[in-house]
Amino acid sequence: MEQLLNKIEAYKSEIDNAAAADAKALEEFRIKWLGTKGIVKEIMGEMKNVAPEKKKEAGQLLNEFKQYTEAKFELLKEASANGQSVAAASIDLSLPGDVMPIGSRHPITLMRNKIVSIFQRLGFAVAEGPEIEDDWHNFGALNLPAHHPARDMQDTFYIQQNPDWVLRTHTSSVQIREMEKGNLPIRMLMPGRVYRNETISARSHCFFHQVEGLYIDENVSFADLKQTLYFFVKEMYGKDVKVRFRPSYFPFTEPSAEMDVSCFICGGSGCNICKKTGWVEILGCGMVHPNVLTNCGIDPNKYSGFAFGMGIERPAMLKYGINDIRLFSENDVRFLKQFTSAI
Ligand code: PHE
Repeated sequence: MEQLLNKIEAYKSEIDNAAAADAKALEEFRIKWLGTKGIVKEIMGEMKNVAPEKKKEAGQLLNEFKQYTEAKFELLKEASANGQSVAAASIDLSLPGDVMPIGSRHPITLMRNKIVSIFQRLGFAVAEGPEIEDDWHNFGALNLPAHHPARDMQDTFYIQQNPDWVLRTHTSSVQIREMEKGNLPIRMLMPGRVYRNETISARSHCFFHQVEGLYIDENVSFADLKQTLYFFVKEMYGKDVKVRFRPSYFPFTEPSAEMDVSCFICGGSGCNICKKTGWVEILGCGMVHPNVLTNCGIDPNKYSGFAFGMGIERPAMLKYGINDIRLFSENDVRFLKQFTSAI
């Protein structure tokens, strides 16, 4: 019995020191200790030499030893499955930790934050609203009554269960919600996702992002609108960029305009981005239509205001040289991890 105990102790310390650097060494360990002709089997055979009154004790010892060997084998196996050097199966606290991948902001978020931060310096606060809107907030209140032809300017997704609901086609709906609250003056920015029923391609998608702005107070004029947007353009695209306004039409603003900046890719000399014109369109804007103010319970004889709206995808594509709008929503980490720094 004494002899058996000593033998087991010796084997145990041998097992403690055992390592397996690769799969072959692991298999050798198994054959040597746990194989049909292995040491565990062999030592089990020694039971027959143990005196009858000691058999129970010896049986327990041997069983324990078997479990001990099996546990070590499992440990080595697990380590090799994890691709670790099996020799390191006993924990080495001096090893460096696993490197955690660092997340990054989405390019749309970066561009949105940049736009928002410029207007925040002019005192604009951020407002948000629902993406499923009722007809009134998305169209009616914005001077687009039912059957108004300008509704066709935006291809709308209607919600089947309730024809009064749409996926908002612009964040102008949030402007209505802010005006309805009646807390004047208003100086708000509305960033958010919008939906239009467009064929998905490299250049257009059925959802994208906008930032709209709204300023309502007494005596607000078109000059205020221009000055605000000039400031934005200089901060966003640099001091040397030129700006031009073209007359346009939106049902909710009068007069309305579209704003172009001199192409910041070619500096105005003409390239593919500006289609050789030297100008890039970046937003729509205008003075809030008196009907819109009235619809929201604001007296148009006392108050006036301006509104503007721009997409986020296009400036982001120009900024980062992205040539396919679909990349923004595919969540491919290889794409996303490139945008680690702020704009
Ligand atoms: N809502 C318009 C659009 O989505 C943009 C716009 C906003 C135009 C405010 C003028 C004033 O195209």
